[in-house]
Amino acid sequence: MAETAELILNGQSITLPVIEGTEHEKAFDIGKLRDQTGYVTLDSGYKNTGATKSAITFLDGEEGILRYRGYPIEQLAENSSFLEVGYLLIYGHLPTQAELTDFSSQITKHTLIHEDMRKIFDGFPSSTHPMAILSSLTCALTGFYPESINPNQTADENNLQIVRLMAKLSTIAAWTYKNSVGHPLNYPRNDLDYCANLLYMMFSFPTEKYEVNPVVVTAMNKLLILHADHEQNCSTSTVRLVGSANASLYGSVSAGINALWGPLHGGANQEVIEMLEEILKSGGDTSKFIARAKDKNDQFRLMGFGHRVYKNFDPRAKIIKKAADEVLHALGLQDSPLLKIAQELEQAALTDEYFIERKLYPNVDFYSGIIYKALGIPTEMFTVMFALGRLPGWIAQWKEMRENKEPIGRPRQIYTGELERNYVPMAERK
Ligand code: CMC
Repeated sequence: MAETAELILNGQSITLPVIEGTEHEKAFDIGKLRDQTGYVTLDSGYKNTGATKSAITFLDGEEGILRYRGYPIEQLAENSSFLEVGYLLIYGHLPTQAELTDFSSQITKHTLIHEDMRKIFDGFPSSTHPMAILSSLTCALTGFYPESINPNQTADENNLQIVRLMAKLSTIAAWTYKNSVGHPLNYPRNDLDYCANLLYMMFSFPTEKYEVNPVVVTAMNKLLILHADHEQNCSTSTVRLVGSANASLYGSVSAGINALWGPLHGGANQEVIEMLEEILKSGGDTSKFIARAKDKNDQFRLMGFGHRVYKNFDPRAKIIKKAADEVLHALGLQDSPLLKIAQELEQAALTDEYFIERKLYPNVDFYSGIIYKALGIPTEMFTVMFALGRLPGWIAQWKEMRENKEPIGRPRQIYTGELERNYVPMAERK
């Protein structure tokens, strides 16, 4: 017999169906609860609310498991390329060689962006954060491909938008950086793979020959894979919610980029390095900062620690920690003072009762910032790198939501404001 749950409300019994996922995680289906009882459920921050059924990513926060389409993140990070993982997330299976070659060459073919987009860069003041430019230009793509706002596109037309976005976001990201430092913009190179081309566009100059460092390419590939999807996190939920109103892929992803920018989400990687630099500048005493993080009267948090879902360890952090060690050694940066502060902070937090009790472990962003820094990527660009990695996840989730014909997302609320009152004319107001 199918499992059900019984809710007793004012003596009346209401039966709630139980939904079970393929990994045996369970949910009460409360979809009809309001019709049956007049009650809604309240769950601030959606800490315990499933918003959708999804076949893309499985995450077990207690066990520290992360799988894309069933494949463990450890195996993908070790063996795959970023585009291979992107294909897997978006289309649901590991590509054959022919499928991957086709996908990669389509993306390569679409990396150029319309020359008029260059002019948009000029309109931003130099103080603009790269994430603001990234989200604006992502949305601006709708102007260059107006057919993308039609919600009734065929699967082939949708695929073209997907490939365009995968291709063009890397060029936009690299140009955002070049623009911020006043360097000439580099056009993409079709002879390089995704990661090498990204690095080339970011770091080469027309005046000198650019050698792509394989250590850096490998690290970048791993970082992008580790960030590629993370089920219904804040930015992904944003992409799905915006897309559920039949907004375009570019508009939905642009909204997701803004959500990712927040310091409690993807913006944390920038905040980690800024925090480490602040500790270093103030003399390197980590204990002061740990004390501040524990002080309830202080807003300060140890950036890069804690996670909404992972309560034992973040499996991405394990992989990335190893990658950080490798990259720093390969680049001769193992004695960097910033790394020493990071190690001290990690050690102290892992042995401190406050952090142990609350299960606050270093998360993926604690180490990703350290790698990006070592690769020479400016701090303000860290979250842009995260966005590039998360892109196939956002696309896959948007596509799944559309294909499943999910209804428009529209949460309920519990109103806590004033009761009805009469309008007061201006002269009578106190
Ligand atoms: N430093 C100090 N205390 C913390 C921290 C931290 N980084 N994170 C959580 N706490 C405390 C918090 O004050 C609370 O204490 P108490 O129970 O005494 O009130 C307790 O731990 C639980 O915290 P919470 O805010 O209820 O947990 P949450 O699940 O709502 O928040 C989080 C998760 C990631 C927003 C939070 O841990 C945080 O702000 N971390 C720092 C920012 C960060 O590194 N974010 C990147 C996350 S990984 C990338 C991504 O996937 O977005």
